[in-house]
Amino acid sequence: MKQFTSVHDVNNINALVAEALELKSSPYAFQELGKNKTIGLVFLNPSLRTRMSTQKAALNLGMNVMVLNIDKEGWALELQDGAVMNGTTVEHVREAAAVLGQYVDIIGVRSFPGLKNCDEDYTEQVFNKFVEYCGVPVVSLESATRHPLQSLADLITITELKTVNRPKVVLTWAPHIKALPQAVPNSFAEWMCKADVEFVITHPEGYELSEDFTQGATITHNQDEALTGADFIYVKNWSAYEPYGAVTGTHPEWMLNNEKLKATNDAKVMHCLPVRRNLELSDEILDGPNSVVIHEAGNRVWAAQVVLKQLLQSL
Ligand code: CP
Repeated sequence: MKQFTSVHDVNNINALVAEALELKSSPYAFQELGKNKTIGLVFLNPSLRTRMSTQKAALNLGMNVMVLNIDKEGWALELQDGAVMNGTTVEHVREAAAVLGQYVDIIGVRSFPGLKNCDEDYTEQVFNKFVEYCGVPVVSLESATRHPLQSLADLITITELKTVNRPKVVLTWAPHIKALPQAVPNSFAEWMCKADVEFVITHPEGYELSEDFTQGATITHNQDEALTGADFIYVKNWSAYEPYGAVTGTHPEWMLNNEKLKATNDAKVMHCLPVRRNLELSDEILDGPNSVVIHEAGNRVWAAQVVLKQLLQSL
């Protein structure tokens, strides 16, 4: 593996999951692989799970880790090519990324979308500048349109916990008060469409995801119908793709509760976290026996570790 920015960087997702589970059972088997190698984790946005799990994964592999909250601790970044930098920005991403690449062997980058300009976000203008200028392999820590480390952890979780060969996995939209990115649902859809699962997406009218990520999925506006017989329910809010970044309706009735679980195959409930309790997902689900959100978050370590292991082996 040369970089990890989407599912398209992976040859065989089932083999990657199997290797991740081997690392889970033997976390320190490759301590020598990362010796004298350094990863730099560059955050333009907040994080708990991605930051800590990727650090833990790197440490398990014997790597050194450096973290830069570039939005708060770095110089104000200029992202536009050709800019006359006579305003508030101090350092161009061309130099910033290239210099970071001098200090580390692998870079992880988190860069959320602005949700104002679809073309800018969906061409990954910020993230791709780091890829272009840093000169070392890049791991996505969540970009404007994708969160592949999360999706890999989700597939690891489904593989571990499934009770039937080909489980029914339902991605359901959930209510929220803010406009959230489409990165997690896009990425989850992209990975599930390649996995050996029956994959259904359900959301209110107006919350269609970009078709670039949902080819092969069954899509319905009927949540009850979608949940019937589900083995896994993946709960997530997202803002509209068209009109871009809009909250076209709040739909509180879409929040998952125990009543809705009755039609499922005792479904396990997933969420990438952080989650707003009793807005996106009810207390009774999060504190009940069907929730696997903590297990899922734990698997973020093995997702990151298998990716870093493969990148180290390609250096
Ligand atoms: N799920 C996830 O990426 O969590 P953080 O934003 O806390 O990293």
